[in-house]
Amino acid sequence: MLPALALAGAVPGAAVVALPTRPGDGDGPPRVLGQPPVEVAALLEREKAKGEAGEILTVPVEDRVLLLGTGDGGPAALRKAGAAIARRAKQQESLALDLRRLTLTDDSLLALAEGLLLGSYGFTLKPSAEPRPLTRITVVVAKPDALKAGLDRALAVIRAVASARDLVNTPPLQKNPVWLAAQARTLLKGLDVTVRDDAQLRDEGWGGVVAVGMGSSRPPRVVEASVDNRVGGVGPHVVLVGKGITFDTGGISIKPNDSMLTMKMDMGGAAAVLATLRAVADLKLPVKVTAIACAAENMPSGSAQRPGDVITQYGGTTVEVLNTDAEGRLVLADGIAYADQVLDADVIVDVATLTGAMPVALGKKIAGLFTNDDTLSGQLEKAAEASGERLWRMPLTPDYRRALESETADLRNIGDARLKLNGGSITAALFLQEFAGGRRWAHLDIAGPAWSGGDDEELTKGGTGYGVRLLTRWLEQLSATSARKRARAS
Ligand code: BES
Ligand code: MN
Ligand code: ZN
Repeated sequence: MLPALALAGAVPGAAVVALPTRPGDGDGPPRVLGQPPVEVAALLEREKAKGEAGEILTVPVEDRVLLLGTGDGGPAALRKAGAAIARRAKQQESLALDLRRLTLTDDSLLALAEGLLLGSYGFTLKPSAEPRPLTRITVVVAKPDALKAGLDRALAVIRAVASARDLVNTPPLQKNPVWLAAQARTLLKGLDVTVRDDAQLRDEGWGGVVAVGMGSSRPPRVVEASVDNRVGGVGPHVVLVGKGITFDTGGISIKPNDSMLTMKMDMGGAAAVLATLRAVADLKLPVKVTAIACAAENMPSGSAQRPGDVITQYGGTTVEVLNTDAEGRLVLADGIAYADQVLDADVIVDVATLTGAMPVALGKKIAGLFTNDDTLSGQLEKAAEASGERLWRMPLTPDYRRALESETADLRNIGDARLKLNGGSITAALFLQEFAGGRRWAHLDIAGPAWSGGDDEELTKGGTGYGVRLLTRWLEQLSATSARKRARAS
C-alpha cells in the first residue's frame, strides 16, 4: 500500500508540514525556502481565544513544522529528501510539503514522489498489522496545474514499481509459476497477454524452461504480453525477457540454506519486465514492447534434471547442464531465442538475478550491464543516471567463450573451472548472447540491486522493483527519439 499523493496550491490542514532548506553560504546555516506556516488564525479560532488581557496560547509549532534539507534541489537530492521526510512522518496521518519556493520540473517531481511513496512502501501478510497511519501526502506548489501531467506520470511509474515489489516480496508458498502468470494477467488487465502452460512449452520446444521446472510439483509457465502504441507503426519493437524463478533451491546442485533464504527474489527480473509493461501502457508511450516472463520453480526431486543432462533449448541449441543451480540462463535462453526467431525483435533486453558473482563485483546497489551494442549501452547508462537505478557496463570478453564449450552438446551451462578463467557473471552473459542471434541485445544482471537488506533512501527492506524505473525511463527516451524522427520525416 502506498499513501495517496496530491498537488495543492496552498498548505492544507495537515498534521505535519515540511519546509525545504538549502545549504547556506560556507559554514553558515541553511536557508529556509518559505514562511513557516504558523496558523495563528486557526489556532485562535480553535481555542476560542478572546484576546482578553493576560490570555496565553501556545503555538504548537515545534513538532508540526519540519525543516527538510533539499541539498542542491536536483532529482537525486529530492528523492533522498522525500524518502527521509516520509519515514520521519510515518506515524502522522498526513504530511504536506510546502515547496512553493522551489522550482519543480516533471523530473524533479518524479524523483521527489519516488522518495515519498517508495520510501513509505511496506509489505506484510500479518492480518493484525495496523494500517499505516500516513495515508495522505500533499505537495504544495505555486502552480499545481502545471505539474498535473508530471504527477500522473510519476504515479504510473511508482505504482508499477510497487507492484513489482509486491510480486518479489510474496513468499514462495503462495508464489509459484502458475500464481505468477495469474498475477501477470491481473497486473496487465486490458493488454494482450498469453500464458503458455507446461504442455505447450514442451510441444513448442521451450527446453530450458521445461528442464528447470520439471523438479517441481508446481509446473512452469511463460507469460508473453505486449503493448503497441506506435504511431503509424514507426519505431522499434523492444522485447524484454525476465528471469522468473519463483524459488531457487539450486535444484539437485542444491544451495546451502543461508544462500537460499532470499531466493524468492529470483523472479525479480520477471517482475520488472511485467511491471515496466504496465507503466509503458499507462504512460501510452509510442513504442511496441513485448514482455516475456520465463517462470519455473527450481527444486530438487525425483523428477528434477540432473547435472550431466543434455537439454535442447528453444530453436534447437543443445546444452549440457553441469550445474542445476545455473538455471536462470536456461530459462532466459528460451525467451531470448524466441524473441529473436519468432518476435523479430529490434532490441532485446533481458533482466535477471543471474549470478552471485555480480554483487561481489559491483555491490548491492549497481546492476551489471552487458551488451553487444555501444549505442544501446549509452542509452541505458543515460536512463540509469536519470532514474537513480544505477548500472555499470561489464565486458563480454570474447576469449572467455571457450569456457562454455562442451564435448557432448553445443554449450555447457557453467564455465569450465579447469580453464581457471573465473568471471562467472561474464560467462553467464556470454551464454545468453549465443541466443540473441546477433540482434541488438543487453543483459542486466540485477542479482545485487533486486533486493535490499534494509531501508535505504527510496528502497525498503526486501524486493526493490529494480529495473522498472530504469527501463521505463529508457523507453520514454526511445519514444522521444522516434517522435523527433517522425517530426523530421514529415
Ligand atoms: N539466483 C542465483 C543467483 C543469485 C545469487 C541471485 C545471489 C541473487 C543473489 C543463480 O541462479 C545462481 O544460483 N547462480 C549461481 C551460478 C553458478 C552455479 C555458476 C551462482 O551465482 O552461484
Ligand atoms: Mn540458481
Ligand atoms: Zn537463480
